[in-house]
Amino acid sequence: MDSSKRPAPPANWRARNLVSIDDFSDSEIAYVLALADYYAPFVKNGARPDQRLAGKTQINLFYESSTRTNLSFELAGKKLGADVINVPVAASSVNKGESVLDTAQTLAAMGAAVMILRHNEPRIHEMLAEHIPCPIINAGDGAREHPTQALLDAAAIRSALGKIEGLVIVICGDIRHSRVAGSDARLFRRLGAEVRFVGPKALAPDDAALAGFPHFDSLKEGLSGADIVMALRMQFERMGEAGKAAAQGYFESFGLTHKTLKFAQPNAFVMHPGPMNRGVEIDGALADDPARSLILRQVFYGVPTRMACLDALLTGGK
Ligand code: CP
Repeated sequence: MDSSKRPAPPANWRARNLVSIDDFSDSEIAYVLALADYYAPFVKNGARPDQRLAGKTQINLFYESSTRTNLSFELAGKKLGADVINVPVAASSVNKGESVLDTAQTLAAMGAAVMILRHNEPRIHEMLAEHIPCPIINAGDGAREHPTQALLDAAAIRSALGKIEGLVIVICGDIRHSRVAGSDARLFRRLGAEVRFVGPKALAPDDAALAGFPHFDSLKEGLSGADIVMALRMQFERMGEAGKAAAQGYFESFGLTHKTLKFAQPNAFVMHPGPMNRGVEIDGALADDPARSLILRQVFYGVPTRMACLDALLTGGK
């Protein structure tokens, strides 16, 4: 496809929110990925795209820390002309005990056209979506979903390898506490990849929705034939004692290095959604190797992919 032309939207844009990666139909996913490819050169070259969100107010409401997601959503909205507000949660009336629902309704009453929410409570986005009049985008909810991360990871892989269909993609490490693992695995499988998980049994997924993905507790076995190997951050803040015990000695058994990447295809790439624990789940020399690492490409694609999500949800592509 010629990515210099704005792609045509699906005939009936249906999705109102992006809470789960499953909120988008196959044609909506194809459109958003094509739109991300269209916006990528604007981000790279600093050119100004059509101001399709001019006059619209975008609220970024992050109850958990973020660098990549928060700032790339801010950049994405600004590049499309939106008025972007980052709510300073720690200095807001949240500090006086205001609930998420009251906070969201207050911001909606100020004319929000879209709300980007990160919160540690699973299902809070679904609850809010029933009470506020504007679309909600999930910027991460506890250990459950991170749909825009999945879309940007897919965009980064497509830009490096030209496709996702037929690839073997292995997601390594703390699957149990990761919101990226589930969204990524389900999206990559829908796009035609074979997806596997690798890591200690104590960090294997306990979510029934992920039961259909094979889990290996041997890096050598799990990486066999892999085109992409994605390391996940050890989510120490969400682990119980069993998880913390499993994380002891993790690098020796499961750490990604130039040496252990040899278990995969000869030209396999590594990825990591960030932030990384260098020397815990991935060796710094591998993470920084431009011939083997797509990590900064993932960060780059965060901006055009989130431009595409905002544009598609707020305009339906029209
Ligand atoms: N990948 C990701 O969500 O990073 P941040 O926590 O920095 O947003």
